[in-house]
Order: sequence, then C-alpha cells, then structure tokens
Amino acid sequence: MENKTHRKYVLSPSILAADFTRLGEEIKAVEDAGATYLHVDVMDGIFVPSISFGMPVIASIRNCTKLIFDVHLMITEPERYVEDFINCGADIITLHLETLKEPEKVIALLRSKHVKVGLSVNPKTNIEEVFPYLHLVDMVLIMTVQPGFGGQKYLDYCTEKIVTLYEQIKKSNLMVDIEVDGGINEETLPIVLEAGANVIVAGSSVFRGDVHSNAKRFRQKIEEFIPVSNN
Ligand code: DX5
Ligand code: ZN
Repeated sequence: MENKTHRKYVLSPSILAADFTRLGEEIKAVEDAGATYLHVDVMDGIFVPSISFGMPVIASIRNCTKLIFDVHLMITEPERYVEDFINCGADIITLHLETLKEPEKVIALLRSKHVKVGLSVNPKTNIEEVFPYLHLVDMVLIMTVQPGFGGQKYLDYCTEKIVTLYEQIKKSNLMVDIEVDGGINEETLPIVLEAGANVIVAGSSVFRGDVHSNAKRFRQKIEEFIPVSNN
C-alpha cells in the first residue's frame, strides 16, 4: 500500500530558469548536488502565453547528463509530438489533462514506448478530474502557479488539491507520484511535502544564485523530511 515511508522523494530542477549560455555546466551542478530528475518545460505560445524551447535543445543536453528527463509539455495537441520527445531523450512525459481529447489513447501510446507517464492539471482544474486515470499513470503534476512562466508565487489554494490527491492514491492502493510545480522555495517546500508531494520541481529557487549550493540545500531539506524507514 502506498504510504509516505515507501515513496521516493525526488528533486527536479527546472532548466527554464537556467543561464542558457552555461546550460551544460548548470545541469552538471544540479546533478552533482543530488538532483534525480531534470525538469524540462516545453511551451508552445498557445496553451500557455510563452514559448520556451523544443527538441533540438533537449537532444543536445541529453549528451551531457544522466539525469532522468522529466518533460512537461505545455502544448496543444501533444499527441502530435510525443514520439519526437521520446526520440530526443525524454524519460517521463507529462501531458496536461486540459489538452487531451482522448487521454487513454495517448497514455497507451506512451506506455507502448516504455516511457513514464504524467498527467498535469492547471490550478483551476479540479483534482477529481484526474481520478479516472490514476491507475494508468505514474505521476500526477499539480501546477501550483498558472503555467507559462517561472518565478511566480505559490498559490496557497493548491495545497488542498495535493492533500485530496494523496488521500485518493492511498485509498486506491496505487503507486502514483505527486509532482508539484511552481513557486516552490524553502518556505513552501515543507508545505507541499507535508501535503503529500514527493517530486519537487524548483526553477528560480535553484537556478538563481549559486546553483550547486541551492540544489544541495534543497536536496538536504527534502532528505530531512523523508521518514527514517525510507533511508
Ligand atoms: C511554469 C513551469 C515551471 C517553472 C517553475 O509554467 O511549468 O516548471 O519553471 O518555476 P519556478 O520554480 O521559478 O516557479
Ligand atoms: Zn514545469
């Protein structure tokens, strides 16, 4: 049965906030500091107002790190591109429920390609909307800011969604990770961990300033929270 003692707690630094002139070095810094995933935000300027980067960047950084690529697709009709993202190095692909006409179909496609599958919801989307798909996915990403930009403030009302989702996962005896994304800093980290999140995205709080020591501090704070029996 899913409970906090058997969960893996993971830091997933978001390169959206990185210095792109030194991207390889900064990725190495978070890897050395104990990150497990690398959060890769893909934005299309339609589903979200901004445009970030795509396949060529991901394929290029794939050569410089062994970190697990946690690719967050903030794009319309993501079905069209999932195979391209797998081919350029994605290990986990997270799709927004709001963008999917037939969630089961694209989830099955991802499963057949042996990548992990995440389903994401915007702050305003009810968390109950992911419940029908929980048995089909590896992870649910709860957006804790409006998707589109880094550096925003954590939306307090999202904490309740984490709690509700965690309760539902336990009730259903499933092993589904809960990822949180947006406004996570040293103040909000304990709140999301306590609520039930176990995959922590952090953009500006890791990549602004000394990247290595920020990531290390974050990793330590997560470790302090992990129940003793999990070490
Ligand atoms: C926002 C992105 C986030 C972003 C988080 O749409 O999905 O991953 O990089 O940035 P911070 O941690 O600065 O809020
Ligand atoms: Zn993201």
